[in-house]
Amino acid sequence: MGYFFLSCKSSKFEVFVLILLLGSSALGSAKTFQGESCSSVADTCSSFVNYQYPYDLRLQQIANWFSVDPVALFGANNFNLTAAPDPENEIIPGNQTLRIPVTCSCIGQIHRVNSTVYTVKPDDTLSKIADSIYGGLITYQEIAAVNNIADPNKILPGQQFVIPFPCACLNKTYNGHPVISLAYVVSPGDTLSKIAAKAGAQAADISKLNALNNSLLIVGDVLDIPIPACSSSFTTTATDYGLIVASGSYQITADNCVQCSCGSNSTDLYCSPAPALLSGSCPNLHCDGTKLAIGDVKEQALSKSCNVTSCIYEGFQGKTIFSSC
Ligand SMILES: *[C@@H]1O[C@H](CO)[C@@H](O)[C@H](O)[C@H]1NC(C)=O
Ligand SMILES: *[C@@H]1O[C@H](CO)[C@@H](O)[C@H](O)[C@H]1NC(C)=O
Ligand SMILES: *[C@@H]1O[C@H](CO)[C@@H](O)[C@H](O)[C@H]1NC(C)=O
Ligand SMILES: *[C@@H]1O[C@H](CO)[C@@H](O)[C@H](O)[C@H]1NC(C)=O
Ligand SMILES: *[C@@H]1O[C@H](CO)[C@@H](O)[C@H](O)[C@H]1NC(C)=O
Ligand SMILES: *[C@@H]1O[C@H](CO)[C@@H](O)[C@H](O)[C@H]1NC(C)=O
Ligand SMILES: *[C@@H]1O[C@H](CO)[C@@H](O)[C@H](O)[C@H]1NC(C)=O
Repeated sequence: MGYFFLSCKSSKFEVFVLILLLGSSALGSAKTFQGESCSSVADTCSSFVNYQYPYDLRLQQIANWFSVDPVALFGANNFNLTAAPDPENEIIPGNQTLRIPVTCSCIGQIHRVNSTVYTVKPDDTLSKIADSIYGGLITYQEIAAVNNIADPNKILPGQQFVIPFPCACLNKTYNGHPVISLAYVVSPGDTLSKIAAKAGAQAADISKLNALNNSLLIVGDVLDIPIPACSSSFTTTATDYGLIVASGSYQITADNCVQCSCGSNSTDLYCSPAPALLSGSCPNLHCDGTKLAIGDVKEQALSKSCNVTSCIYEGFQGKTIFSSC
């Protein structure tokens, strides 16, 4: 499986992590990103949370815990779909860091994830759910508050709770560039420049957005990281209008027929036919009257005066895929 970290050479800031054996709650100065404020329930976006689990897991288990599609998890982490015909059965090694794609909603004037729903199992306690499963991203008190759980010691198997991770939409831009926010939990050994390099973000942006002001990072702190992204300019009537893809990742769209990628150093979205294993039947993925498939960039002589040079994906609606040449 092709997981890789993005590299970024800038290291203006070198903030060292203070490893606290007693846990971060002992210090009042932890930078705990609580979710960005918002005023309208229409203010939603795609965002990421960062995730690590100490033991090997099947990808399907993580997909279930976060209510996400295994293929979306593959895309968010730039795993190679062609090399993994069965994404849900891939094994994610213990402690590997993943980006989990979530929907960031506006709940009670704070941006929080509303797309992750957990079903209580026998022997679960609210603190086990918060600490062991969603380690570090949320407290049991926050789960109790958002779900109106009167007594956190009384939860029953089969009950379903929204797990309201903090998230941000950043108005989809930061410093004038398209971005997607990542809620990141600081782990032992992290420095601001390492975090920035892993995320493909700028250390200065992270510092400013989180008002770090050269303060120490503490293990367990949650930071809001603006990951650069590639935005689309699809037809406004397209179902995937507004698609935005984080750098170093891809998304599958158009009913599993099209893959849109954003390079690790790019702002240009690149869409091409998705791997055939994902989709049973895809409509014609060629531009009208040409031999060029979506994503092809090459000169092709047509019968008359004009030559076609590229075939560009413009979104989909129903069974129709739009393209322009
Ligand atoms: C993805 O996997 C396929 C099949 O193993 C391989 O041919 C291809 O080169 C891989 N792509 C990348 C980008 O690693
Ligand atoms: C993951 O990290 C924890 C804490 O450092 C460690 O105890 C555990 O053994 C690690 N797991 C793996 C699979 O390396
Ligand atoms: C959160 O999700 C529930 C369904 O699970 C939905 O009823 C509610 O409207 C959502 N809230 C927001 C703010 O999107
Ligand atoms: C969000 O961006 C839009 C244009 O992209 C702008 O008109 C609006 O003022 C921005 N809102 C905030 C809160 O920055
Ligand atoms: C940031 O640090 C500078 C110098 O260390 C200090 O003067 C300033 O008050 C700090 N700002 C905040 C918001 O903490
Ligand atoms: C990324 O882009 C910058 C500026 O365009 C360039 O200097 C750098 O070499 C590029 N890095 C990679 C890995 O392509
Ligand atoms: C079209 O492309 C062919 C080669 O593919 C080239 O010979 C021809 O000059 C081009 N015509 C125009 C109008 O650009």
